[in-house]
Amino acid sequence: MNTSTQVRTERGSGLLSITLARPDKKNALTSEMYRALVAALELAGSEPSIHAVLLDADGADFCAGNDIVDFVALAGSGQGVESSDVFRFLRALAQFDKPLVAAVRGRAVGIGTTMLLHCDLVYVAGNARLSTPFVDLALVPEAASSLLLPARIGHVRAFALFALGETLDGHAAVDCGLANAALSAEEVAAHARAAALTLAGKPALALQATKKLMREQQRMLNAIESEGREFAQRLVSAEAQAAFRAFMTRRGPGP
Ligand code: COA
Repeated sequence: MNTSTQVRTERGSGLLSITLARPDKKNALTSEMYRALVAALELAGSEPSIHAVLLDADGADFCAGNDIVDFVALAGSGQGVESSDVFRFLRALAQFDKPLVAAVRGRAVGIGTTMLLHCDLVYVAGNARLSTPFVDLALVPEAASSLLLPARIGHVRAFALFALGETLDGHAAVDCGLANAALSAEEVAAHARAAALTLAGKPALALQATKKLMREQQRMLNAIESEGREFAQRLVSAEAQAAFRAFMTRRGPGP
């Protein structure tokens, strides 16, 4: 399996636990981390003894989104965005059939929030802060979120997240159907683990079939492809380069 020091995995009791482990950078995701995440999902998908996956993160924040330094490198590489590690991860997530349970504390920015749309149970800290400020970064939504987020919370709320850069706290995330429960930051991990263990004890094939029936996989893959085409153009635009520079030199306001 592809391993990374910044993504930890642990197996046991029918679960694969995946932990984002780059807390000094608020778990911003690098190419190496995406490769490790894809490998972890492939392992979980192919291993019959794994019935559910738990997704958690070290430190106070769940995930500050894609690593912006990596975005700059990707933009300059000439590599097609659709074949990048991030898009491989997004397709793996959309096609993953076993239940995914997430424990979210602190910030979940960009893909940190959109990956939650592919999770089946989501537990958040009351003071979690979910945001998808793609337009502020001169980018567009990914992870089929242009399809899934409006379907989940309605067009106008989704647009406010994407385009105004609005943030939802944990309670608001529960109210609009993005999470199951808002708990104290100390309780989130244990609660999510208990739920994942409960799932792991259920009839495994019925569990997978239920998840599959509830998600239109091909529609999600189609959305990921159209988002990818647009994303590729936005990524190399002058306005995106300026937004990345502003973050890296901290001249602009953070999302
Ligand atoms: N890419 C690369 N590095 C990131 C990062 C990202 N997406 N998010 C945070 N970091 C790094 C910071 O550069 C900083 O590194 P340093 O200590 O070497 O300077 C470290 O993580 C801590 O982040 P900092 O910005 O100092 O924390 P904060 O509490 O002031 O702000 C955020 C937290 C999440 C609001 C802010 O880091 C942020 O806006 N990050 C970018 C989010 C984003 O736009 N992601 C892409 C979405 S598509």
